[in-house]
Amino acid sequence: MMTEEYLHALLLNMTIEEKIGQLTQYNANVFLDSSADITGPRMQLGLTDEDLSRVGSVLNFSSVAEMKKMQDMHMENDPHRIPVVFMMDVIHGYRTIYPIPLALGCSFDAELAETCSRMAGKEAAASGVQVTFAPMVDYVRDPRWGRVMETCGEEPRLTGALAAAQIRGFQGSDLTYAENVAACVKHFAGYGGAEAGRDYNAVECSERALREFYLPAYKACIDAGAQMLMPSFNSLNGIPSVANPWLMKQVLKEEWDFDGVVISDYNAVGELLVHGVAADEKEAAKLAFDNGCDIEMCSSAYIHHLKELLEEGFFTQEQLDQAVMRVLRFKNRLGLFEDPYHGADQEKADCLYLCEKHREIAKRAAAESAVLLKNDGILPLQENLARVAVIGPFAREHGILGSWSCNGRDEETVTVADGMAALLKTGQVIVAEGCSNHWDDTDTSGFEEAIAAAKSSDAVILCLGEPQDYSGEGNCRTDIRLPGMQMELARRVIAANPKTVAVLFNGRPLDLSELDAVAPAILEMWFPGTEGGNAAAELIFGRANPCGKLAMTFPRSVGQCPIYYNHPNTGRPHWTRAAEHCGYTSDYIDCATLPLYSFGHGLSYANFVYVGMTLSDHQLSAEGSIRVSVRVRNESPVGGKETVQLYMRDPVASVVRPVQQLIGFRKVAFAPWEEKEIEFTLTEPMLRFWNFDMKHVSEPGEIQLMIGCADHFVLTDEIIMK
Ligand code: GLC
Repeated sequence: MMTEEYLHALLLNMTIEEKIGQLTQYNANVFLDSSADITGPRMQLGLTDEDLSRVGSVLNFSSVAEMKKMQDMHMENDPHRIPVVFMMDVIHGYRTIYPIPLALGCSFDAELAETCSRMAGKEAAASGVQVTFAPMVDYVRDPRWGRVMETCGEEPRLTGALAAAQIRGFQGSDLTYAENVAACVKHFAGYGGAEAGRDYNAVECSERALREFYLPAYKACIDAGAQMLMPSFNSLNGIPSVANPWLMKQVLKEEWDFDGVVISDYNAVGELLVHGVAADEKEAAKLAFDNGCDIEMCSSAYIHHLKELLEEGFFTQEQLDQAVMRVLRFKNRLGLFEDPYHGADQEKADCLYLCEKHREIAKRAAAESAVLLKNDGILPLQENLARVAVIGPFAREHGILGSWSCNGRDEETVTVADGMAALLKTGQVIVAEGCSNHWDDTDTSGFEEAIAAAKSSDAVILCLGEPQDYSGEGNCRTDIRLPGMQMELARRVIAANPKTVAVLFNGRPLDLSELDAVAPAILEMWFPGTEGGNAAAELIFGRANPCGKLAMTFPRSVGQCPIYYNHPNTGRPHWTRAAEHCGYTSDYIDCATLPLYSFGHGLSYANFVYVGMTLSDHQLSAEGSIRVSVRVRNESPVGGKETVQLYMRDPVASVVRPVQQLIGFRKVAFAPWEEKEIEFTLTEPMLRFWNFDMKHVSEPGEIQLMIGCADHFVLTDEIIMK
């Protein structure tokens, strides 16, 4: 890497225009667009050839050759030979695609998350990517929001642990190594709280809720060494994040001392005019730069106005130099001054894509992220069944990679039908789609074939869900039930053959109330990625034992949303619907209050019995610790993994506390009939919260400890925090 002195010398020799160029990023097509094209993106952005010659980073490109061509072009023209840095959204895979992050959250497996990101980073780096805009760690409570698929769910500690693991996976130990990419944590902050679950919508959130729920996962990523951070599109309490002094100055810089690079989201600086906090591009540039946004992505406020703002004294030369130095150091940490290609090698990339090792990891991740929601005993199926019908719109569906699947190709995905055929003997599998998965499709002409297939088979794998483009950015739903005629198909197929397993492909928690009422078994596969069909087959036939636990609550109805496990008690919780309140409780008159499936829920083919919990002490001091030992026995002839979850409740505090909060989890493998002792170490910092005075402290008093999953605890005890 170059020395700090070298970077400072570069800075001294740069013109203001060259410095501002380092603070801009555009899509590759802007560079490759011919300047003669008066309708092209370059003209729309108001960029001259000279502007483009100075741009410091590029978003998205299609090949190593294209990346090298742009780098070469730039380096030849740049007198300081400052390399361009190339960035892309490698969220859950580059070409081999792993389960969507919400699925990975259900694995409760940080090591697995790290491995998936490591493999994704290797494919990306070989392909010319130097920075990925991941992990996304937005805290979510509302499945109407399409981007819930992109985060690890509604539990800040779980999301923080898995996202920190992803950062370790992407960044490795040394960013100059060719197989590592820099990670950019996003979207800071509160984006998942978009009102009504509508993307880009306003977020109103108290400081206490922000600090308690929304901010911890970002901090975990910064502590894990994230090199970059992206503010979110939304306004937070009336001020768009990219121009929000409380977020960007007080929290990020003063409290957290973040010294990485801040990059705006796509045109988010330009959107300050649309939000209505900037009258023109110049004001937008001033707001964003003044609040610490170093690089402007895909809008032109900086390139058009930063020089003018400097000359007019709105900010100092030093502020400009500090921002540019952050970018130069960032590129230096990637080793780009020595190797502007960062080891990109198309031949190496081609060998990595879909290689056996990556496929194996993708299949394992898909299996460990799946959640067995219901099983009346029909699963696992026996492999010696004479005939198996694979029915439903997802029977042959290749579109199970999920949103943000980068360069993954649907046609390279293993479908459920493929997976079944690969696992079973030939001639055993018949396939009938029955209907589509589109919300406005009422065609039932495929029912007859599907019902006949069900009737003539020993068992049915009923593959249902929502199209992968019904979730992801900009794809929000007001109706989170199974789209189209799928429930009608399900009822008819299950009536024709009760030995039916429903297998789900979706990017958000769905309202499965109707399916839960008729299906004897429900396996949630989410969007499992390239190896989805093989993982589903292995789970259904018991070659793999489901071990996922829900990282996000499944409501009974969209009318319950937002719904989440770490909720307050209220003064009239639903269970007080008794004489004293004569029905005046925090309850619906037309729907049960508890969710259909709670956070942390997930079944296994094994039978895990929670034998007991013992504490080394029942008093906890500020410097002390308590050993919490949980005895679990696998009372079954099948091995499997169980995620033991430790929750707490602080029944009396200076502010209202959640009725339950996850404070620890251990994913443990059990052999058949094996009994194990699982230990947690409880310390005072684990009990801290933002109290009445907005101090992050623990308070003396009783703390309840619970083992099990949200709303369904099997062991409890309590301690006294001294
Ligand atoms: C998008 C997304 C962001 C992504 C960026 C670059 O609009 O909000 O997550 O990293 O643009 O593609």
